[in-house]
Amino acid sequence: MKNKSSLQGKTALVTGASSGLGAEFARQLAASGCHLILVARRGELLQKLKQELLVKHPVNIQVLTTDLAEADAPQKLYAAIKAAGLSVEILINNAGFGIYGEHAKIPWPQEQQMLMLDILAVMQLTKLVLPEMLERDYGYILQISSIGAYQPSPTYAAYSAAKTFVLYFGEALNYELRNARVSCTVVSPGVTATEFLRVAGQKPSLYQRLLMMQSPEVVRIGLKAMLKRRPSVVPGRMNALMVWSNRFVPRRWSAAITYRLMTLQ
Ligand SMILES: NC(=O)c1ccc[n+]([C@@H]2O[C@H](COP(=O)([O-])OP(=O)(O)OC[C@H]3O[C@@H](n4cnc5c(N)ncnc54)[C@H](OP(=O)(O)O)[C@@H]3O)[C@@H](O)[C@H]2O)c1
Repeated sequence: MKNKSSLQGKTALVTGASSGLGAEFARQLAASGCHLILVARRGELLQKLKQELLVKHPVNIQVLTTDLAEADAPQKLYAAIKAAGLSVEILINNAGFGIYGEHAKIPWPQEQQMLMLDILAVMQLTKLVLPEMLERDYGYILQISSIGAYQPSPTYAAYSAAKTFVLYFGEALNYELRNARVSCTVVSPGVTATEFLRVAGQKPSLYQRLLMMQSPEVVRIGLKAMLKRRPSVVPGRMNALMVWSNRFVPRRWSAAITYRLMTLQ
């Protein structure tokens, strides 16, 4: 089995690196000797992270400030990466956000921005980096889905459906790539202590407070699965059990149970 030292000297593009899971992916990859391209909108946080990592690790770090929800942002980002003479050997497609609430009450522009980021940017970046990975016959892609992807999730209806897209897209791509030394792995975290809930506008429910995981553990599990070129992984025993048990429950019951878990304080 490969370990993280096999990433030494490779270059990873990490989207959404200014906070939460993305910042932790950057930390663990830098600790493995990986050069980094860090992307998000909040450039000052990316610069701060860059300084933190450069003090500890002998790696090269590029910071690119981009709003990936804009239609042509992935192409412009990739063009900037190529103009800087860089290759992407690992893509951590992490930038994303959710919106908590009833679908009928969420303004369309906010939801459209979410879908542009959570679906289209994920797909476009994957499409942009794949040719160079296939040409050199080396590469890892890690897509960040959610346990919300495994059932209809009222109060996160569009977000969880977007993450279902990411899950199925990523797993299908993993199969298409089965004969290459290029792979696509999907990590589907449960609730994790990041800025996610604040950005989504949700006060954590009782279930979320009880099962909250920490970013270092989620990222460690995600990177391990990525290095094994596994199609999919769900971090945390309880999260994995819940996802597994879904197959025995009609989807309309899953929706009702999920609604209770999201709203019960
Ligand atoms: N935390 C959880 O409970 C949880 C559970 C399941 C899945 N996830 C998924 O995990 C991923 C990381 O989220 P997180 O939990 O770490 O939340 P987070 O702390 O809010 O981080 C989200 C990251 O995405 C970036 N981002 C947001 N909008 C962007 C845009 N338009 N363009 C570029 N970057 C953008 C943010 O940076 P800027 O604001 O600086 O742009 C930030 O770095 C997301 O895909 C999320 O859906 C999270």
